[in-house]
Amino acid sequence: MSKARIEPALTIEGIVDLPGDKSISHRYAVLSSLAEGNSEIRNYSAAADCQSTLECLRRLGVEIESAKHAIRISGKGLRGLAAPRRTLDAGNSGTTMRLLAGVLAGQDFSSTITGDASLRRRPMKRILDPLAAMGARITARDGGLAPLEIRGTRLHSIDYTLPVASAQVKSAILLAGLFAEGDTSVREPVATRDHLEIALREFGARVVSIKGEIRIQPGPRLEARNLTVPGDLSAAVFFIAAALILPNSNLVAHDVGLNPARTRILDFLISVGAPIHVASLQSRDGELVGDLAVRHAPLRGGEISGAQVAEMIDELPMLAALGPFTEKGIEIRGAQELRVKESDRVAALAESLGRMGARVQEFPDGLRVEGRRAGKLHGAKIDPRGDHRIAMALAVAGLGAESTTTIQNAECADVSFPGFFTTLERMLER
Ligand code: S3P
Repeated sequence: MSKARIEPALTIEGIVDLPGDKSISHRYAVLSSLAEGNSEIRNYSAAADCQSTLECLRRLGVEIESAKHAIRISGKGLRGLAAPRRTLDAGNSGTTMRLLAGVLAGQDFSSTITGDASLRRRPMKRILDPLAAMGARITARDGGLAPLEIRGTRLHSIDYTLPVASAQVKSAILLAGLFAEGDTSVREPVATRDHLEIALREFGARVVSIKGEIRIQPGPRLEARNLTVPGDLSAAVFFIAAALILPNSNLVAHDVGLNPARTRILDFLISVGAPIHVASLQSRDGELVGDLAVRHAPLRGGEISGAQVAEMIDELPMLAALGPFTEKGIEIRGAQELRVKESDRVAALAESLGRMGARVQEFPDGLRVEGRRAGKLHGAKIDPRGDHRIAMALAVAGLGAESTTTIQNAECADVSFPGFFTTLERMLER
């Protein structure tokens, strides 16, 4: 198990090399597999999560060739997946398990999907309920935990209102909707990332989104596509935060995904004083893409609650870890969802920021991290609990601390950002 030593830094400077967007990578891989013909996906994420999706698809009989800058997928057509001989392994990836459960529910074969210890603790009832309402036959451990045993069957359509705002659940239902009889509708309380809807349209499916309702027609002929995955904004945020923490910093990120369902984090940072500039905006494959430039500036801090939680769900660890560097601190409320991610992120953040000397109050639904007046952070030994975003958020906080921070089992960052620590190190001045 590797440790990362994070020494305090003076400044961060340069152009950051980002992995391809994780959410978009999963979706392009799944849809390419269900399409007719050969698709090429450039800048497909090397993240372990996205590789788990490719491995599962291979076990379902899909041929996938990985080259340096692109992967090639020979589509099997909507009805062409084959029964897997072995259990599918989603690793640490909730997106892999939930999206594939939607696809597998409507096949004419049975399959089992499992994951690592963290994923086997995460709630699956949220997909099991709507899929069961569509006629799916899925057995889970203790009523709602993986492994999931899926006996493929004929599905019928539903009109489902999501009880929790979740793009993974929405996506599982829409994918199952491809195999259902009749149109399937999903209604969401808060608009979550719509990468699947966009990608489905790119591949030729009929999906309409009107006022919080997304409706999909079943049985489309999906056409193979050549697509380029934008850089991952949720990964960029760790570097943006480093630039905001370290004086005189100047950072550029090229070709970042700027889908409005993902950019609430930029709105928030700008609203509390971050100088972030967007340039070269363009629409590519239905997704908004552009360049970001960020300079250091003192941040005011503030509160995140309500719809903002779902809109910035993956950025909340970094935001909490920015708290001690802001004037008023950061408070996150209404964020129970953070407790059922790759780790209980509320507890993990409270513990590890506390170890670094931050003044933190933990609530059932979030946490408050006091600002600069509570004192400077000092280095500490951090156990990220196997959670990539906790490891990266605390590493960035460590750059602005007074002494060395050690991130244990730092390789967990590979789940979303292989090469994170070397990329960071290369851009720092001490
Ligand atoms: C994702 C959706 C979010 C996010 C996860 C990726 C996706 O999860 O936290 O990292 O690709 O659909 P939820 O939909 O469970 O909130």
